[in-house]
Amino acid sequence: MSVAGINVLVDETRERMAQGASAGAKGPLLSVRGVSAYYGSIRALKGVDIDVNEGEIVALIGANGAGKSTLMMTIFGQPQAREGTITFAGQDITKLPTHEIARLNLAQSPEGRRIFSRMTVRENLQMGAAVNGGKHFAEDLERMCTLFPRLKERIDQRGGTMSGGEQQMLAIARALMSRPRLLMLDEPSLGLAPLVVKQIFSTVRELNRTEGLTVFIVEQNAYHALKLAHRGYVMVTGAVTMSGTGQALLDDPQVKAAYLEGGQH
Ligand SMILES: Nc1ncnc2c1ncn2[C@@H]1O[C@H](COP(=O)(O)OP(=O)(O)O)[C@@H](O)[C@H]1O
Ligand SMILES: [Mg+2]
Repeated sequence: MSVAGINVLVDETRERMAQGASAGAKGPLLSVRGVSAYYGSIRALKGVDIDVNEGEIVALIGANGAGKSTLMMTIFGQPQAREGTITFAGQDITKLPTHEIARLNLAQSPEGRRIFSRMTVRENLQMGAAVNGGKHFAEDLERMCTLFPRLKERIDQRGGTMSGGEQQMLAIARALMSRPRLLMLDEPSLGLAPLVVKQIFSTVRELNRTEGLTVFIVEQNAYHALKLAHRGYVMVTGAVTMSGTGQALLDDPQVKAAYLEGGQH
């Protein structure tokens, strides 16, 4: 990959951040306010408030079934929030259909890494790039191959034949191909070996440090997520019960007892 490629992206990111800074006076990049969402008559989200500021990594932790994925999906409009407001980059997206939200500068790597298993790595990345019209494809492809050398080795391999870790890298790379302003990751560590989790999280940290990429990450793996994040939220049965810096939450006795017992992997 060319160093020039990185510089171009960094410059563009700076521009975006400058725009964001002026928009910053208006509020956070992503703002979730009093959001409730339902599956039929079951209230899966109960008035959730979460902010993600430009340049931050924010983690949402919580047990299985707490509503973390539901929040991710609600931000993408499916299910739609029945109460409350979701704002992205100053725009109210609460009632936008999913396909219109997907065209905004936010990209998602969903739980269970739903890559296209019959398509090759390259074709999966093409799908990611198509969201913003497929511009800069060659340059961004090279960039993903540098970020994730495993993907370069397997560029013509079908997604479904790769290991869990490689598929997760592909899901993240596919999301990054649209050059998002906000990257949303749902359980990127799920089912992966600790070493692979470390690799993936350190790549996310580097993207944040070098390019100012804003990241919202949902994880059951509280230890790694809070280590990575600037700030975090704890969700219990559809409601946010705690928030603070990643370190403050890691040090909190309640968080320790509920989410960090039994090891740091
Ligand atoms: N499609 C669905 N239909 C009905 N209930 C659902 C659906 N998806 C999730 N739920 C329920 O909503 C709650 C939150 O689930 P989820 O958001 O997947 O939690 P988490 O991602 O934190 O594990 C759970 O009780 C789950 O059973
Ligand atoms: Mg989930």
